[in-house]
Amino acid sequence: MTIAQAPNTLTMHSAQGGLRGLVEVPGDKSVSHRAAIFGAIAEGSTSIRNFLPANDCLATLEAIRALGVQVEYSPETVLVHGVGLRGLREPSGPLDCGGSGTTMRLLAGLLAGQPFYSILAGNNQLSRRPMDRVTMPLRRMGATILGREQGRYAPLSLMGGDLESIRYEMPVASAQVKSAILLAGLFAQGVTTIVEPVPSRDHTERILAAMGAVLRTEGNQVEIQPSEALHPLDIRVPGDLSSAAFLLAAAAVVPGSEITIPGVGVNPGRTGILHALRRMGADLRLHNERLDNGEPVADLTLTYTPLKSVNILPEDVPSMIDELPVLSVVATQAEGITEIRGAAELRVKETDRIATTVSELRRMGASIEALHDGLIVQGPTQLHGARVSSQGDHRLAISLAIAALVAEGATTIENTACIDDSFPGFEAALTTLLRGRHR
Ligand code: S3P
Repeated sequence: MTIAQAPNTLTMHSAQGGLRGLVEVPGDKSVSHRAAIFGAIAEGSTSIRNFLPANDCLATLEAIRALGVQVEYSPETVLVHGVGLRGLREPSGPLDCGGSGTTMRLLAGLLAGQPFYSILAGNNQLSRRPMDRVTMPLRRMGATILGREQGRYAPLSLMGGDLESIRYEMPVASAQVKSAILLAGLFAQGVTTIVEPVPSRDHTERILAAMGAVLRTEGNQVEIQPSEALHPLDIRVPGDLSSAAFLLAAAAVVPGSEITIPGVGVNPGRTGILHALRRMGADLRLHNERLDNGEPVADLTLTYTPLKSVNILPEDVPSMIDELPVLSVVATQAEGITEIRGAAELRVKETDRIATTVSELRRMGASIEALHDGLIVQGPTQLHGARVSSQGDHRLAISLAIAALVAEGATTIENTACIDDSFPGFEAALTTLLRGRHR
């Protein structure tokens, strides 16, 4: 058996042949959060199909319920009965964001516009991640926000309302920060303008525009006008490219693979990993490209070919930020030196992903080095099985599982329950593709 499971642990052996066949990935995490939060403040019911039932998105649903929004949950459809822009009510206790940075940062923007008191709290991991990137601009807009270390860390307590618009030049590209300010901008006097160093994913802009908000994007700049009302939507969440990327990476490194993943969101702010794989020589094709609810969607097919190294520049990073750990795994199998620069943001994700990627892949024999803002990987190397740990980071857990497919011997990954933070069903999807070779 290739995959064996003990509680919170995954033991894997190398793939004995290519991954083959077709598998779907669950709904997009970023779109699921946004559909729920924006649905909560629309006038009437938003229906969300293919909502991602991952811990992070379920935390968002619980939080909007605590703000007085009725949510009907079924695995097929989530119905969010929006209360309008001014219908949220003061929660009776802290809102628990679990480990979800997106939940905490987007809700900070929403709550900055509400004339009541609220507290945003999270688990230990989230409480170590920087929140001043949202508290600083939201305070400038007029919200009162307190948090540990002058508002740098959660728990955050907010007293919102009466916001002024601002022009804000973001020091780092971040869709979460941009979204928080756009949400606050819905409630502010005047036009709010945000400038990013490099454009990040624009799911917020697309959904808010479809709901009737007035936004204008030009290059790196987005403006939003205050809104009187948002219309509810019927949203079908596309497959999550960040989850698909793990399976594509697996097929890219295991000889003999050919896989197809249908219905994946290919928002231009997310497709950096596809460009990088192609630049490495991967045979990756997009078919059936279409627009679904304003989001570009495609079917993706990858056929194994030998790979060469790639240079990832700072301007490439925002569109592939969550895929850099698995790209490092792919780089261990590619001919030459892969260099990733301008990715210091990795240090403030669920873990310090530069440090954790290096320490765990080294245990498996990778030739990998940490830079202050990136990684250097020398390939190709024959990885070997080892005992490694995700350190509680879902993206790392799955990246290590992909590395295990090309490692000699058994790899035991500790701390894998976190896979459910973003990709419930990962093991089943991988098993389907590994079995596909027998068909
Ligand atoms: C996300 C944006 C990215 C990404 C995260 C999800 C979003 O974070 O890493 O997994 O949904 O907006 P940043 O906004 O911090 O770059």
